[in-house]
Amino acid sequence: MRDLPLPKVYQLLEPGPVVLLTTAAARRGRPNVMTLSWHMMVEFEPPLVACVVSSASHSFAALRARRECVIAVPAVELAPKVVAVGNCSGRDTDKFAAFGLTPRPAARVAAPLVAECFANLECRVADTRLVNRYDLFVLEVLKAWSDPARKRPRRTIHHHGYGRFVVDGEAIRLKSRMR
Ligand SMILES: Cc1cc2nc3c(=O)[nH]c(=O)nc-3n(C[C@H](O)[C@H](O)[C@H](O)COP(=O)(O)O)c2cc1C
Repeated sequence: MRDLPLPKVYQLLEPGPVVLLTTAAARRGRPNVMTLSWHMMVEFEPPLVACVVSSASHSFAALRARRECVIAVPAVELAPKVVAVGNCSGRDTDKFAAFGLTPRPAARVAAPLVAECFANLECRVADTRLVNRYDLFVLEVLKAWSDPARKRPRRTIHHHGYGRFVVDGEAIRLKSRMR
């Protein structure tokens, strides 16, 4: 065993897949989209998802003010756009227009779905107790969409840090007591 620098720990435990998180305009302005890889499931039903949305981001202010968002799940074909979305800010860029992503109205929230993604999850903020401390929002999924035109395998992308991504690969079946 060798010493592993602590800043590299997150690369071992990446929760994957990289997703897009959209928000409606906070006051004036436009809908926005950011790239997010720090998220995890915390409950089956209703589905709860914990997400770290940096307070330095434009999305943070919109999420805190509107208390809702959409988590859109892209497949590998969208990877270059997904990374580009994560390398700029909605403060000065209309990212839907700049990256050719199509916003679609959602059913339960004002934030838009992303038409190019194979799944979209409409969410409301369910718990903000860890926002001040860790920028961590617990979201409840109110409505979920899946695109039937995009059949499996839908190969998601997983961030291993510093520009390295792994693409979801072979599926295997094993008996598991976990749902
Ligand atoms: C692969 C990738 C993963 C990212 N994951 C996160 C994340 O989990 N949380 C976060 O706050 N920012 C994350 N970012 C950075 C944001 O996407 C980036 O700051 C974004 O441009 C913020 O946009 P906004 O200012 O329009 O909200 C990630 C960026 C990339 C490229």
